[in-house]
Amino acid sequence: MTDRAALARSRARRWRAPALLAVWALLAVEAVGGLVIFAARLAFGTTPGETLHVIAGLALTVAYVVYQWRHWLRVRPFLPRLDYALGLFSASFMALSLLTGLALGVVWWRDRASGTGAVRYPTVLSATHLIGSMLVLTFIGAHIGAVLLRTRKLNRKGT
Ligand code: HEM
Ligand code: HEM
Repeated sequence: MTDRAALARSRARRWRAPALLAVWALLAVEAVGGLVIFAARLAFGTTPGETLHVIAGLALTVAYVVYQWRHWLRVRPFLPRLDYALGLFSASFMALSLLTGLALGVVWWRDRASGTGAVRYPTVLSATHLIGSMLVLTFIGAHIGAVLLRTRKLNRKGT
């Protein structure tokens, strides 16, 4: 097998890694569920699907930490390249979304357990979570775009 064929196979294997597939699936659940919460709050003053959003959020936190650790061990050290910079932004906004999400999850649990009715989320925390969640999706998209672009350029050079 040629070097290029071996590289292509190892990359294809990485795209199918269970930790990455789990991150994609749970991120999709979080993004769709979060948008439903956002739209329903604006339109009807309700927040449907919060329980699913919190449970999938906990699972995403675990899957993401496992994935990111392995990913970093493979791509380190940090290089001055667009795909690295966008990866770093993705990881920073993912951390922001997960940490604010976990803090909102604590408020959700506490207010439900006290049985006082509607959950009272702190406005700044809620807004930070919303903005962080939009930015994480944007930067992951840009990171993947930069990685694919670079691969295409390298392939062209090789032909
Ligand atoms: C990157 C992953 C995540 C995304 C994309 C995301 C997205 C969103 C969005 C768009 C909203 C609606 C915000 C609003 O209407 O103001 C929301 C609300 C919420 N999220 Fe997340 N979320 C994520 C992770 C998490 C995690 C890990 C938890 C907890 C374990 C969590 C808990 C909550 C709670 C309790 C709410 C309702 C409170 C609120 O609307 O401010 N989220 N999420
Ligand atoms: C939310 C966080 C991240 C996600 C979901 C993510 C996802 C991915 C995926 C799916 C690939 C293509 C498959 C592969 O080559 O493994 C990739 C490649 C890459 N990522 Fe990330 N990444 C993230 C964060 C980071 C960070 C923090 C860095 C470094 C600062 C980084 C650097 C890279 C590099 C350099 C490549 C190209 C590797 C190569 O060409 O062999 N990523 N990333």
